[in-house]
Amino acid sequence: MTSNLTQVYPIIWESDRASLIDQTRLPDEYTRIEITTYQQMAAAIKTMIVRGAPAIGIAAAYGLYLGAKEIKTSDRQVFFTQLEEIAQVLRATRPTAVNLFWAIDQMLKTATETPGTIDDIKTALLQKANAIREEDIQTCFAIGEAGLMVLPKTPEKLTILTHCNAGALATGGYGTALGVIRSAWNSGRLNRVYADETRPRLQGAKLTTWECVQEQIPVTLISDNMAAYCMKQGLIHAVVVGADRITANGDAANKIGTYSLAIVAKFHNVPFFVAAPLSTVDFKLATGDEIPIEERDATEVYQVGTTRICPEGVEFFNPAFDVTPAELITAIITEKGAVIPSELKQFSVSS
Ligand code: MRU
Repeated sequence: MTSNLTQVYPIIWESDRASLIDQTRLPDEYTRIEITTYQQMAAAIKTMIVRGAPAIGIAAAYGLYLGAKEIKTSDRQVFFTQLEEIAQVLRATRPTAVNLFWAIDQMLKTATETPGTIDDIKTALLQKANAIREEDIQTCFAIGEAGLMVLPKTPEKLTILTHCNAGALATGGYGTALGVIRSAWNSGRLNRVYADETRPRLQGAKLTTWECVQEQIPVTLISDNMAAYCMKQGLIHAVVVGADRITANGDAANKIGTYSLAIVAKFHNVPFFVAAPLSTVDFKLATGDEIPIEERDATEVYQVGTTRICPEGVEFFNPAFDVTPAELITAIITEKGAVIPSELKQFSVSS
């Protein structure tokens, strides 16, 4: 562990380039990678140097600007055609988190609505990418505050279980699920966090615990199959997770294992919260059945680190996300307040 950060910002824009925390190297090494082209940004998203739904949206926004600034034309139509080609490369990186597509759409809208020269459009695109990042950080603070309103009132100090990493690393900063947990900690309502390790990529073990250690938030690491036992023992007062895409009916896609956690929570009467910005809600999709689920490389399943854990001759299946049905979700915590899933639709016009 080489850093002691109090504020974690996975994506920073400085000196005409994006600087990313390399999340594939945490917690062993804190290093930043400089990104100067859209191809590098697309590769960083695909290989999960940057990951987490809001963070990949922000990364894609900067990626689109990096591509736009290299387009050499003074013809608006030619510019937009080439910009769309760059957008396609960025869209093809990861399919499940809607924030990626949302951020690209926001950027393209800015481009088409900006009058003047191509240079004016390029300037507007950088401003928009910066705004998407800054707004996301503010949104996370608001989610944290909204979460405080719906967390159980007793006991005074809660133990909260989370899955994967929906923290500062997965957003502009502060986090969604971990934002609620941070706000609980800052207001004296948190006893400790239980972090699921989150096989196969171990975002909980590697990233969530790292963030907690940075801020001295008490954290207990468990393997994914321990959650039911912990709930049975009365150790967990609430579950708070993030989301990659929420549909109009309140179904929520999140890291694989979230669905089983929600079932276990329901069985034990433990409230189950999904914390996400409204940019994660895809009102175009009616239910979670329509969400594209990313499948990743088999190596993630048959290896732990670089060590193979099973014999040759085995087949593999590696869906990276699952969908938790709305009926298992106690409330969805957004920057505009927490609602039961069926009330999410009230935000569809303004989102
Ligand atoms: O595959 P990842 O690491 O990008 O998956 C991340 C998650 O599933 C997070 O819980 C989700 O993106 C919410 S991040 C605020």
